[in-house]
Amino acid sequence: MKKIIINIPLILIIGLIISRVILVSCTKEKVAIPVVTNAPDPNCPDTIKFSTTITDMMNSNCTSCHSNGGTPPDLSAYSSIRDNASAILASMGVNGTMPKNMTKLADSTVQKFSCWISQGKMNN
Ligand code: HEC
Repeated sequence: MKKIIINIPLILIIGLIISRVILVSCTKEKVAIPVVTNAPDPNCPDTIKFSTTITDMMNSNCTSCHSNGGTPPDLSAYSSIRDNASAILASMGVNGTMPKNMTKLADSTVQKFSCWISQGKMNN
């Protein structure tokens, strides 16, 4: 009788330890899934509109050379701006050379283009 009373808690503890080990090993095998958040970029407080901000930026600084069969990329068309977004950002960023032979764009202007990219290059 005494033996049974002692062994019940012991069995319970062993059971708990075994289930804990199984649980931990299962958790470790799981592949970490990257968390995709739609948290707004703190550097981009506003949603940048392609139809106004980006189009104005290109028309004021770039399309004189980059449209109508001029120097590629065509910076008057959404699809071309979308597809060349990284190169465009680099061209007018810190070490960029665009607009060619002209005053560099203001950091805040370049930032807007960067925000448009991080917001998903929308045709909005
Ligand atoms: C005065 C004409 C002119 C203007 C204005 C101009 N570009 Fe260019 N761009 C060129 C030429 C010419 C090239 C070909 C490469 C070179 O000569 O540097 C070029 C090349 C590029 C390229 C290809 C990659 C590279 O950097 O060489 C990109 C991207 C680009 N320009 C983006 C822009 C953007 C964005 C603007 C506006 C902010 C702009 N350009 C304004 C003349 C111009």
